[in-house]
Amino acid sequence: MQKVPVITIDGPSGAGKGTIAQMLAARLGWRLLDSGALYRALAYAAGQAGVSPEEEDSLAALASRMNLEFRAGRVLLDGEDITDAIRTETVGNAASKIAAIPKVREALLAWQRAFARPPGLVADGRDMGSVVFPDAPVKIFLTASPEERAKRRYNQLKEKGIDVNVLELAEAIRERDARDRTRSIAPLKAPAAALEVDSTGRSIEEVFGQVMAKVEETLPDLKN
Ligand code: C5P
Repeated sequence: MQKVPVITIDGPSGAGKGTIAQMLAARLGWRLLDSGALYRALAYAAGQAGVSPEEEDSLAALASRMNLEFRAGRVLLDGEDITDAIRTETVGNAASKIAAIPKVREALLAWQRAFARPPGLVADGRDMGSVVFPDAPVKIFLTASPEERAKRRYNQLKEKGIDVNVLELAEAIRERDARDRTRSIAPLKAPAAALEVDSTGRSIEEVFGQVMAKVEETLPDLKN
């Protein structure tokens, strides 16, 4: 079987992972895995089905049979476009709760790995480089100060027409990050050999340039 190259981008919410991952996938013509959307979709599906975060077996079963598609930048659950519905902080928070359940993570593992197909994959999340694609040749860990991350999330949500209180949002993000960092399974942390990039006070182009330089240095065949 041909080995598919994978670039992993992990980090806390609001660090700019999604934007950088999208730019990278577009530049390279590779597939993109937004693994956060997977956990968000599951949280959404659980809400619809009336399954609570305590019902671990039901959640794992739901994760295994979830009919989810990523098509042309949209997320479809049973054919319904849930792209915007899963972007709220409420869904993000619920996603972070169910993401701490080992059985749920296990159920989503094969699904995520199946995303790696030629010519390559850019995978964005919390455990892409540490657990899902440990052999990835390029691993990036993207961070930014908590204040800047809260500000970016606020602007993103406002752009989407979602009304939020900035202080409540900062607190929700802090809580979610703390949960993601301290959970016993696949906690958020920089994987070994990852390039750590701090995006605080820097433009997207500048950060993208730094990441692209690392990609070209590690995978010189891409330059042609
Ligand atoms: O990145 P995003 O904010 O969409 O992720 C929502 C939540 O899903 C995160 O707070 C985290 O708890 C969970 N997640 C995860 N592992 C991933 C991606 C997301 O646990 N690889």
